[in-house]
Amino acid sequence: MAERGRFITLEGGEGVGKSTNLARVVGWLEARGLEVVQTREPGGTPRAEAIRRLLLDPDEPEPLDDDAELLLVFAARAQHLARVIRPALARGAWVVCDRFTDATFAYQGGGRGIDGARIAELEAFVQQGLAPDLTLLLDMPMTAAQRRLDRRGERRDRFEQERAEFFEAVRRAYLARAADAPQRFAVIDAAQSLSAVGEQIEAVLEARMATWQS
Ligand SMILES: Nc1ncnc2c1ncn2[C@@H]1O[C@H](COP(=O)(O)OP(=O)(O)OP(=O)(O)O)[C@@H](O)[C@H]1O
Ligand SMILES: [Mg+2]
Repeated sequence: MAERGRFITLEGGEGVGKSTNLARVVGWLEARGLEVVQTREPGGTPRAEAIRRLLLDPDEPEPLDDDAELLLVFAARAQHLARVIRPALARGAWVVCDRFTDATFAYQGGGRGIDGARIAELEAFVQQGLAPDLTLLLDMPMTAAQRRLDRRGERRDRFEQERAEFFEAVRRAYLARAADAPQRFAVIDAAQSLSAVGEQIEAVLEARMATWQS
């Protein structure tokens, strides 16, 4: 097995199946005897989860300024990196994270319209060169993903209440990120059945594992 832990992220819009498939990725790695830390953003520590609640709360009437939203995302990320992600990788554990900085480029960049260069400055400041080894981008049309969310039946958070154009912009921004870093990203067709999506993901993991071990 690989001698150091790897950092794997799952990305994609609302309801594409990130959380469902995260469990599958974790199980696949654990079956190979690896120590896996499963986590999510925004959040992953008690204080970062408190920032998550500030970001997602649909009941707060005060509008959240776009720049304040961006800085809160990176404040939560700094805490998560310091308390969870860096210590795990340093001891050789694998980290599997539900969303990371590509989500910031997609939502605050593509969705809110913040200049990607400003996001990249914060990324450099907070991450100091740390980036995922592999990013699984679950991609599918927004309308079909919305139907999945309707079936899931949970109350919608502040982002899930956005308009269709917002989600289309998020999807485009994700695909542009993937095109810019094809060696890091694997784009998964998330519109397929759960088992077919799982097979695509396992094929990617098999292939990556072979390159990481060589
Ligand atoms: N391939 C699939 N086919 C059909 N339904 C699916 C598939 N993948 C996930 N689902 C269902 O769609 C719903 C959304 O999945 P999930 O919660 O994993 O998405 P998510 O990307 O984590 O969403 P969110 O962005 O809200 O966190 C769930 O009810 C899940 O069971
Ligand atoms: Mg989820």
